[in-house]
Amino acid sequence: MRCLVTGVTGFVGSHLAELLVSEGHEVIGVARSAPVPAERGWEGDAVRVIQADITERAALVDVFRSTRPQIVIHAAAQASVPRSFEDPDGTWRTNVDGTRALYDAVRAACPQVERIVYISTAGIYRSSTQVIPLHEDAPLAPASPYAASKAAADLLSHQHAVNYDMPIVRIRLFNQLGPRQRTGFVAADVACQIARAEAGLQPPEIRVGDLSAVRDFTDVRDMVRAIWAVARRGEPGMVYNAGSGVGRKIEEVVRGLLRHSNADLRLVVEQEKLRKGDPTCLVADTSLLRRTTGWAPQIPFEQSLVDVLNDWRRRVGQVR
Ligand SMILES: NC(=O)c1ccc[n+]([C@@H]2O[C@H](COP(=O)([O-])OP(=O)(O)OC[C@H]3O[C@@H](n4cnc5c(N)ncnc54)[C@H](OP(=O)(O)O)[C@@H]3O)[C@@H](O)[C@H]2O)c1
Repeated sequence: MRCLVTGVTGFVGSHLAELLVSEGHEVIGVARSAPVPAERGWEGDAVRVIQADITERAALVDVFRSTRPQIVIHAAAQASVPRSFEDPDGTWRTNVDGTRALYDAVRAACPQVERIVYISTAGIYRSSTQVIPLHEDAPLAPASPYAASKAAADLLSHQHAVNYDMPIVRIRLFNQLGPRQRTGFVAADVACQIARAEAGLQPPEIRVGDLSAVRDFTDVRDMVRAIWAVARRGEPGMVYNAGSGVGRKIEEVVRGLLRHSNADLRLVVEQEKLRKGDPTCLVADTSLLRRTTGWAPQIPFEQSLVDVLNDWRRRVGQVR
C-alpha cells in the first residue's frame, strides 16, 4: 500500500517507516527539517522524504496532490512535555493547527484516502490514584500544554470523522521506550546519563525526578505494530488505547537500566525535576485494541531496557 507518514524522522515515525518498508509497502515521509538523520531505521532511499511544515496548508496540499497515499499516519507533533512549557505557542501551532491543516489538505487534495491514523497520547487522560486500567471512555484532564494540545487535536480528529466522513481512527499511545528516543523521556534520559558516565563524559551520578509515578511502558517496535494494526483494522471514528496494560513505577525503569551497567553509579533524586500536575498513574486498558486487531506486545520489558542502553552507548556524545 502507499502510506504517508508525517513526523517520519521522529522516534515513532522512523520505527513505523522501518516496519512498513520491511513489509514491502511504499512509504512517503513528511519531515520538517533537512537533512534526514543518519540513524533513521531504513536503508538509502527506501522512504521518499518530502520536506514540509505541517502548519503550512498549501505545502501539504501539494504533498497530497503529488503523492495520493492510501493510508496517512499522522505522527508529527511537538511531543516533548518540558518543551511545551517553554514554547506553548509553538506546541499548539504544530499539534492543533498542524493537525487541522493536514485534514484540510487531505479533504482538498486526497479525498479518496482509505484511512488516516491520528497518533494521540495517554497524557490526555485524568490520572488515576491507583492502578486502574484506563478505558477509552475515561475522563480527559490534560496537565501540560503538550497534553492539552494533544487532547484538542484528538477531539478535532473525532469531529472531522463525524462531520466530514473522514476515515480517521485515533490511537492513544501510553509510554514508550526503545532505540532512537530523544532525551526528555525517562528511559532515554537515564540511559543517556548511564552511557555518558560509563564513557567518562559526566560524573557517575544519575539524576532523576519522581520515581513513584506509575506508567505503562511498551517498546516502540511493538507500538508501531499497534499503529499499523489500527490502520488496517480500526474502525473510522473510533479510538483505541495502546499499551502493555502493566503498571510499573518509574523507579523500576531506572533501577532496571542501572542493573545493566557495571559502572559504580549513584542515583540523585532532584526535587526541581518534579513537575506540578504530573499524572501519578497511567495504565492502559487495551482490551478494545486487542479484540479489534489481535495485537499484543511481544518484546519483553527487560529486552527493551538492554536495547535502549546499548543504543545510547552507541550514540553517546551525539545527544539530540
Ligand atoms: N514518544 C512517546 O513516548 C509518545 C507517547 C505517546 C504519544 N506520542 C505521540 O507520538 C507521536 C510521535 O512522537 P515522537 O516521540 O516520535 O516525537 P519526536 O521524536 O519528537 O518526533 C516528532 C516528529 O514530528 C516532526 N515535526 C514536529 N513539528 C513539525 C512540523 N511543524 N511540521 C512537520 N514535522 C514536524 C519532527 O520533525 P523535526 O525533528 O524536523 O522537527 C519529528 O519528525 C506524537 O504525536 C506524540 O504526541 C509519543
